[in-house]
Amino acid sequence: MSRLSQKHLLGIKDLTEKDIELIFETADTFKDVLNRPIKKVPSLRDVTIANIFFENSTRTRLSFELAEKRLSADVVNFSTSTSSVKKGETLLDTVNNILAMKVDMVVMRHASPGAPHFLARHINANIINAGDGTHEHPTQALLDTYSIRETLGTVTGKRVAIIGDILHSRVALSNIFALQKLGAKVLVCGPPTLLPKFIKNLGVQVELDINKALEWCDVANVLRIQLERQQLKYFSSLREYALYYGITKARLDSLKKPIIIMHPGPINRGIELSSDAADSAHSIILDQVENGVAIRMAVLYLLAGVTA
Ligand code: CP
Repeated sequence: MSRLSQKHLLGIKDLTEKDIELIFETADTFKDVLNRPIKKVPSLRDVTIANIFFENSTRTRLSFELAEKRLSADVVNFSTSTSSVKKGETLLDTVNNILAMKVDMVVMRHASPGAPHFLARHINANIINAGDGTHEHPTQALLDTYSIRETLGTVTGKRVAIIGDILHSRVALSNIFALQKLGAKVLVCGPPTLLPKFIKNLGVQVELDINKALEWCDVANVLRIQLERQQLKYFSSLREYALYYGITKARLDSLKKPIIIMHPGPINRGIELSSDAADSAHSIILDQVENGVAIRMAVLYLLAGVTA
């Protein structure tokens, strides 16, 4: 069996291009399984997986749980709102207690960048980062690039614009790493206050004019304005943001060529993306969600084969 170079999936930064191709090929097989009348395989029978979410999630949490169940794993779920974390228990104590119940893999979302890396240094289970603060969200970037490959036939040479709140986005960083490893050209676009100062050092183009960014790209990956992470006022009003950076069907129709619209969700409809654009033929947003299950099955399956 081909193996990943890593025991954990902490970030796209750690993966090789070969790792990503292996995940995609494995996801192709699982996507076929998901389209069969019986959508379940015994691959992870007797493997126990804990999903521990210290931050809210709809898509990632459901998608991981479904992927685990489709692989016949035993699944336990944990969320902070109903746990003893509320009584002051530390992250390491929480996880060690879960592991004492013989858990093999941990899928974790946490508000602090580096929290899954901390766990990986201290415990023996495979760790999968389901989003750590503003740092990385590796399975989101894998399902995003897989969806581009599925729609356009390849990622190599494609022009991808990542648009919106880049400063607070873990999806942006993971996408930049994944797209570059697969040979795509990457541009970021947003108000100057929502672009990190170091961003050019990552080898991406920077464009402040949304119309120029849309004319340039084959794919626009539109990011959510993350109001819950914004401590300062980064633009005058949501109305002004929507006017200057919001993507509407009228804006898409005015382009010289059709482009693909992506969004990791949840969407702020009417702010970064209008409903007529989100629900248009340009959009592959629900394909991204569908592909998320196959990608997460592939990641879980491949990591379960790495024990050293
Ligand atoms: N895309 C994403 O991470 O969505 P959730 O926050 O709902 O998991």
